[in-house]
Amino acid sequence: MDSPYCLVILAFFCFILVKAQSFDFVYNGFNNSDIITDGGAFINPSGALKLTNRTYHVIGHAFHPNHIPIKSSTSAKNASSFSTYFVFAIVPLAETSGGFGFAFTLSPNRGFPGAQSNHFLGVFNSMNNGKDTNHIFMVEFDTVNGRNEGVDADGNHIGININRVESIASQSADYYINNTDITEQVYLQKGESIQAWIDYDGVNKVVNVTVSPMLVSKPIKPLITHKIDLSPVLTENMYAGFSAATGDKASSHYILGWSFRLNGTADPLNLAKLPTAPPEEPTSSKNSHLKRALIASFSSVIILLVGAFYIYRRIRQHEVLEDWELDCPHRFRYRDLYNATRGFKDSELIGVGGFGTVYKGVLPTNGAEVAVKKISSNSLQGMREFVAEIESLGRLRHKHLVNLQGWCKTKNDLLLVYDYVPNGSLDSLLYRQKRDIVLTWDQRFNIIKGIAAGLLYLHEEWDQVVIHRDVKSSNVLIDGELNGQLGDFGLARLYDHGKNSHTTNVVGTIGYIAPELTRTGKASTSTDVYAYGVLLLEVASGRPPIIYESGKGALVLADWVIECLQLGNIIDAVDPRLNSVYADKEVQMVLGLGLVCSHSRPEARPTMKQVMKYLNGDESLPVFEQSSNGSDRVDEITSKFLEVFTTDTINISRRSLSIGQISSSSLNAGR
Ligand SMILES: *[C@@H]1O[C@H](CO)[C@@H](O)[C@H](O)[C@H]1NC(C)=O
Ligand SMILES: *[C@@H]1O[C@H](CO)[C@@H](O)[C@H](O)[C@H]1NC(C)=O
Ligand SMILES: *[C@@H]1O[C@H](CO)[C@@H](O)[C@H](O)[C@H]1NC(C)=O
Ligand SMILES: *[C@@H]1O[C@H](CO)[C@@H](O)[C@H](O)[C@H]1NC(C)=O
Ligand SMILES: *[C@@H]1O[C@H](CO)[C@@H](O)[C@H](O)[C@H]1NC(C)=O
Ligand SMILES: *[C@@H]1O[C@H](CO)[C@@H](O)[C@H](O)[C@H]1NC(C)=O
Repeated sequence: MDSPYCLVILAFFCFILVKAQSFDFVYNGFNNSDIITDGGAFINPSGALKLTNRTYHVIGHAFHPNHIPIKSSTSAKNASSFSTYFVFAIVPLAETSGGFGFAFTLSPNRGFPGAQSNHFLGVFNSMNNGKDTNHIFMVEFDTVNGRNEGVDADGNHIGININRVESIASQSADYYINNTDITEQVYLQKGESIQAWIDYDGVNKVVNVTVSPMLVSKPIKPLITHKIDLSPVLTENMYAGFSAATGDKASSHYILGWSFRLNGTADPLNLAKLPTAPPEEPTSSKNSHLKRALIASFSSVIILLVGAFYIYRRIRQHEVLEDWELDCPHRFRYRDLYNATRGFKDSELIGVGGFGTVYKGVLPTNGAEVAVKKISSNSLQGMREFVAEIESLGRLRHKHLVNLQGWCKTKNDLLLVYDYVPNGSLDSLLYRQKRDIVLTWDQRFNIIKGIAAGLLYLHEEWDQVVIHRDVKSSNVLIDGELNGQLGDFGLARLYDHGKNSHTTNVVGTIGYIAPELTRTGKASTSTDVYAYGVLLLEVASGRPPIIYESGKGALVLADWVIECLQLGNIIDAVDPRLNSVYADKEVQMVLGLGLVCSHSRPEARPTMKQVMKYLNGDESLPVFEQSSNGSDRVDEITSKFLEVFTTDTINISRRSLSIGQISSSSLNAGR
């Protein structure tokens, strides 16, 4: 045989092989689909697959037309893994409080002959219920409890059923909030679209079932994880489908999108394209007396049920608190913060900083906009002491400090809740983002003064001295009136608690760390003043504290300002985007004050009280010593910042300009 023919034949067999081993489909809505329906099921004009029409005691089924070769692989005795993902909605009839649920099914045939409605869900009947010859695997999404036969958890539940209507595993319909053991209820019968995933692992023989509302993407932890080998249950070829039934109570059951894959993960659905379930209009008046009777008889039951749910959920969702957490007025409920940030969704992310990620949120309790900082507490110890401190920081109130509203602690995270400050951080307004807005000199001067007032409050005007430890432009937030607010105060202490005393850590950000801090590791109000000085230079020059120029390497902003000073024209250091629109005296004073504050010798730095006097023009700045002293400074700063950090560290800082935490031992190693 010619080799090309061999190839063709080989390819053909490969194709057959591949064909045999792969099976998948995806429906984003069911317009013009090949889905096979029977009973009350049909595809409505919007493209939604409706399983039951609004009649009592009716059954509806829908199937994918092709059989799934679930045991056709070489290991014919073992059922293959499969995964299915669908979006459904259950709409109760307007006058009743709802009917029975529906089920996802795998069955040997495209139909359930002789099936009964009500709690048989249109799959089984009283004769065949429980028989191994049924070969039916099903996951029910049920809305009724209190059946005689079953042991179902509650009226809003999900269960795995094998060959019978009684579940082998069943859970109240909830989802786990990622990385917690906290559950949130998914109310099946509200008419809202709900996502569901069923995953079978054919190797480990485990079925997972997961549900979540549309806004919450697939939770990490499944609602049900049940170990069961489906191999004896399933036959070689199975059909996948859905079944629903109504009884004395009726609901409409909709499947809005569906995907399936054998031996792999079901394809995602295009949630935006899916049809939605229409709200149920009242049924015709013919039935109204029946309905009234139904309302009368069921409403009392439902009220009891709802009450029971409520109590049940309250018990289940009660956050486990330690004694000391109970009387903290600033503690927030995790669920409120979770809901506020839409589940800490990436789309709500507004910042990533040295201490954690920041999300924007709207509190469900009062509709207030907040910024929620999420700090991973895995590595943090002494949480209790820290929270005590947060409680006291929560009492700090100043116009130029970002208001800390409170906190919340979970197993893995510490969450801090701040007022939301709309205009972002100062560094982004100065030089980070390409923005059209250029802050004018007056606005900048106003911001500088505000931050000085905030820092003075922390240092001298509150009951105890609070050292900020991480003053920098990215911690200065700009509010709607373009006033500066200092954020993150006191946070640096986080890293002190629980640390061994012999490994002192220097906390701060490259470019803002006072030289003596790297030697002694001891933060003081004076090290805050140093960082504030760097901030002044940034604001006046519109440049970051360390400037990277290609070919020239890293240049410390203060050195560059001194260079301008030495060359006799400090005005060269002023941000060119100000277009020379500023008061010369003020700008010079701010640059000079910046240099004095960021002087390498702490004794030479003013206190914040003095800084305020200079800024207010109450005192004039002492003449800044130039030349000889200046060049000393350059040397000193250069040795402190540039030689000390290895090239690697600087590369890292080039990306973020913030390494958060530098241990003094690593600094020593770098020397
Ligand atoms: C499923 O995948 C496994 C490993 O990838 C493979 O060995 C097996 O043949 C596949 N089975 C089917 C039915 O595709
Ligand atoms: C609902 O479906 C059943 C079964 O197909 C049918 O007998 C009944 O007439 C339908 N009712 C309505 C209101 O369409
Ligand atoms: C299905 O078709 C209807 C009308 O033909 C249209 O309004 C609807 O948007 C379609 N749905 C999808 C998901 O394409
Ligand atoms: C079925 O699976 C089990 C465990 O996963 C494995 O030990 C066994 O060899 C498999 N059977 C066949 C026929 O492949
Ligand atoms: C099922 O859930 C468990 C966690 O409970 C997970 O480890 C496992 O990978 C999941 N299996 C599948 C097939 O999704
Ligand atoms: C939960 O975690 C999974 C896996 O990391 C992720 O895909 C999903 O988006 C997360 N869900 C939420 C609500 O954050």
